Amino acid sequence: MKPITIAIDGNAASGKGTLAKRLAAVLGMAHMDTGSLYRLAALRLMEEGGDPADEASAVAAATALSRSYRPEDSDNPDIRTDTVGQATSRISAIPAVRAQILELQRNFAMQPPALPGGRAPRGAILDGRDIGTVVCPDADIKFFVTASPETRAARRHKELQSKGISVTYDAVLADMRERDARDAGRSTAPMKPASDAIMLDTSAMTVDEVLAFALGKVREKTGLMPTE
Ligand code: DC
Repeated sequence: MKPITIAIDGNAASGKGTLAKRLAAVLGMAHMDTGSLYRLAALRLMEEGGDPADEASAVAAATALSRSYRPEDSDNPDIRTDTVGQATSRISAIPAVRAQILELQRNFAMQPPALPGGRAPRGAILDGRDIGTVVCPDADIKFFVTASPETRAARRHKELQSKGISVTYDAVLADMRERDARDAGRSTAPMKPASDAIMLDTSAMTVDEVLAFALGKVREKTGLMPTE
């Protein structure tokens, strides 16, 4: 039987990653944060002293990543810095970089890995920017998660402060707007909702409300119910 696929797209700090993680936990599904793949390629490039504007180096880094990637690589905290985030947004606009990373994502959706403890997954949840439009256009259910730039900047600012990183709210907001424009404006696989995506604005919602809404939609469309 074909595993169930849930596609979750949306912009930075929209809440899509939190939703994907929590849905995967309660539904017993494998989760892939596809942004971490692009981030790992950007980190590799920066560590090698490469320039994100140099296409050949970026493609080489993405190719190396696609050959060596292991899921635990996505836990590397070094990929979460804003410097890596900005470089990632640049290299992810390069079509040949995206082509390298596409297969990793499709393989994950088609053959989701076992869950911790060896349990068989009921399917895969992928979150990113182009999952519903390019990576898994046939996903069983698609969400497009948004929140106002101000809400997203406030969330990211709080998160950075809690990590002891000193940065102003205005700088975070400016960075957020710049990244949105680049992610949505690129010609290859721009961030945009699939025509059949369920739109979800989390600006005025708690994490629990977002989860409850999404679980209701998943049950309606696929019949999947929480395992716990
Ligand atoms: O979701 P994130 O902030 O970790 O994503 C980092 C960058 O990677 C973001 O600027 C856009 C890019 N990205 C992408 O182009 N396609 C994806 N499927 C996921 C992320």
